[in-house]
Amino acid sequence: MAKDKTLDDLFLDTLKDIYYAEKQILKALPKMARAADSEEGKAGFLQHREETQGQIERLEQVFELLGKPARGKTCEAIQGIIAEAEEIIEEFKGSVALDAGLISSAQAVEHYEIARYGTLIEWASQLGLTEAVPLLKANLAEEEATDKKLTQLAKASANTKAKG
Ligand SMILES: [Fe+2]
Ligand SMILES: [Fe+2]
Repeated sequence: MAKDKTLDDLFLDTLKDIYYAEKQILKALPKMARAADSEEGKAGFLQHREETQGQIERLEQVFELLGKPARGKTCEAIQGIIAEAEEIIEEFKGSVALDAGLISSAQAVEHYEIARYGTLIEWASQLGLTEAVPLLKANLAEEEATDKKLTQLAKASANTKAKG
């Protein structure tokens, strides 16, 4: 019964959500790297793909701490964000605005992840899951650093180039 559900259930549900999302992101990043015009953009997406692999492993450690199988739960939010990125690739391919568009999509992904990890860290500490907290914080730190790098890339080159 839904009546009996507690913060434990919310935590596990949200963990499954971000686990699914990270796996989708892992598949999307090479496509974004291939599409990107600039070498920095390509390299940035590939580097974050490597990090994402490590993030998935940390999430698997959190599942293990809970004694639950690592299983994703379909996340429509990330599906939508990735679908929009694919739309940008399709519609802006070959244009000067492509990289600015790709960066904006990537930042939407990062902000979704940042929101999820912020919540999971708070809930993990509420629930006394002290070993899960540093794992989740490590993922959050990588998402925040990626978001900052994307902002720098947009400001340093992609946005001005996009003006044509
Ligand atoms: Fe991630
Ligand atoms: Fe990320």
